Amino acid sequence: MVLVTGGAGYIGSHTCIALHQAGFDFLVFDNLCNSSLESLKRVEKIINKKIKFVEGDIRSKENMQKAFEMYEIDSVIHFAGLKAVGESVELPLKYYDNNINGTLVLLEVMQEYNCKKIVFSSSATVYGDPHTTPIKEDFPLSCTNPYGRTKLFIEEILRDVYRADSDFKIVILRYFNPVGAHQSGTIGEDPNGKPNNLMPFIAQTAVGKHEFLSVFGDDYDTIDGTGVRDYIHVVDLAQGHVNSLQKISSLDGVLTVNLGTGNGYSVLEMVAAFEKASGKKVAYKIAPRREGDIAACFADPAYAKEVLGWSATKELNEMCEDSWRWQSNNPNGYN
Ligand code: NAD
Ligand code: WQD
Repeated sequence: MVLVTGGAGYIGSHTCIALHQAGFDFLVFDNLCNSSLESLKRVEKIINKKIKFVEGDIRSKENMQKAFEMYEIDSVIHFAGLKAVGESVELPLKYYDNNINGTLVLLEVMQEYNCKKIVFSSSATVYGDPHTTPIKEDFPLSCTNPYGRTKLFIEEILRDVYRADSDFKIVILRYFNPVGAHQSGTIGEDPNGKPNNLMPFIAQTAVGKHEFLSVFGDDYDTIDGTGVRDYIHVVDLAQGHVNSLQKISSLDGVLTVNLGTGNGYSVLEMVAAFEKASGKKVAYKIAPRREGDIAACFADPAYAKEVLGWSATKELNEMCEDSWRWQSNNPNGYN
């Protein structure tokens, strides 16, 4: 049985579908602090199966032990965490407590129940401002905000756990920029309040929730001066977790892998692609650079192909079409 922490969230809910399709039995553990049960209800409709769910907080040993008592868990996909960069600058302790302390409790309980396989959600943010692109896994690591530091620290904690006990099998997945939604248009990203990320902001502008998109800077050293990122379809990303679980037993050491497409698109290219896919106009205005942003970030995806047999299959137009289907069918998200 696979324990999926944070499985009610954006990436977790899509991964539940991929796990089901690959024949894995799984249970979701989530405190619903940034999600709702509605996402899991909709996943149940898609896979036509009831999902095992334990409501709880990863920081609570009792809550975690309850899940391990109820089910025979042999591996964990660990999505649970807070992810808003700006909030992490305002409230660093909240992020260190939730993400780091939560992971420590999870790892302790895993040890207690002799469960030693874990796939962890890290982020391309651990590369800081890369000296060159595309980014390979052995590039230097750094970070510019508390959220990023929680990912970096957790990566180090996992490496120490392996050094102390080489029975542990650990896969660290560094996601680039997840976008898109399941093709049914019934599940997707449902940010609280005004979105920080580009794709949900574009989608909400297209549906009429915002007057215009602020493009944060047009004077970067990129194709058109706007920031370049590696957007990856969430369904491809979900499949990366399945591949990781399929390979994890044969691992030696800690495997750290980029999950990206290898293609970089600028903000203005994203706007144009979304307009084409949705048939809607996305008004925008050039605004000052956002603090902490970098010019360009995209993956070298070769290692993922080599060690996980995984590569992204979905192109930008499909990412935009699927985001639009979700957004236009659910203008208020899961509410
Ligand atoms: P999300 O907020 O949609 O999902 C996270 C889930 O974790 C939510 O359902 C939330 O309720 C749950 N959760 C948070 N703290 C918890 C706690 N203490 N106990 C139990 N459950 C808790 O976010 P997402 O986009 O699906 O991201 C999943 C993971 O991937 C996160 O760790 C995030 O940092 C990482 N990640 C996300 C992105 C991105 O851009 N979406 C990029 C790189 C890495
Ligand atoms: C993409 C591009 C912006 C919004 C963040 C986190 C990172 C990871 C993914 C979790 C940039 C521009 C954005 C807007 C804009 N999350 N933009 N107007 O910054 O690459 O990464 O999410 O791990 O840690 O930092 O993604 O979607 O915020 O921005 O012009 O309203 O769009 O400047 O060039 P980012 P993003």
